[in-house]
Amino acid sequence: MTATAQLDAWRGDFGDDYVERNAPLDEVLRIRTRMWARFLDAMDAAPPHNILEVGCNIGLNLRALPRLTGAELHAVEPNDKARARLLADGVIPPGNLHAGAGQKLPFPDASFDLVFTSGVLIHVHPDDLGAVCGEIHRVSRRWILCSEYFSTRPESIPYRGRDDLLFKRDFGGFYLDRFPDLECAASGFLWRRTTGLDDATWQVFRKRGS
Ligand SMILES: C[S@@+](CC[C@H](N)C(=O)[O-])C[C@H]1O[C@@H](n2cnc3c(N)ncnc32)[C@H](O)[C@@H]1O
Repeated sequence: MTATAQLDAWRGDFGDDYVERNAPLDEVLRIRTRMWARFLDAMDAAPPHNILEVGCNIGLNLRALPRLTGAELHAVEPNDKARARLLADGVIPPGNLHAGAGQKLPFPDASFDLVFTSGVLIHVHPDDLGAVCGEIHRVSRRWILCSEYFSTRPESIPYRGRDDLLFKRDFGGFYLDRFPDLECAASGFLWRRTTGLDDATWQVFRKRGS
């Protein structure tokens, strides 16, 4: 099992508290569904038949997605409590939910049409970011979606009393610089004032020729 200071926090009380603070309220799921309508529209040329979320927590995305697509849903999540909540609520079949982390994904190459993170790369230490994005790129057959906080320059933001749990940068640029086979199919900004989301930027990448 991959161990980092950040994953230790997410697997422990810090991660459990996050699970307790979050709930799949109707309005929250409506907001996520509107967000996903934009994301999936960008993949209209080849809609994904199976999707992997890396770092799903209680599954706000996985609960919204079936309102828009019949794609098979899979997820990886390090926090036990979050996975237990997903299973108790029957969000995805137990066989599709994996204990683990983005640093080492338990799937063969090119397993999923779409692999995505939403508010997860921001919690990965910069030293581990290459490994996590490398794994996401490896297991994606066609699409990668990245929806994360943005900063032109990499920076660490104090978060809940610590300075090693939240990092911002141009994550989309990081993918493009690292993987020359990716092209950006669409990108946008989730402005809190109009979306109810967290002022995040998003990019949909496609593997060239896929
Ligand atoms: C802010 S939550 C976002 C949850 C979900 N993606 C969403 O959009 O609602 C971050 C989640 O990422 C998980 N996480 C943190 N580091 C991770 C890593 N290296 N690999 C996979 N998941 C991770 C945490 O346990 C937590 O559930």
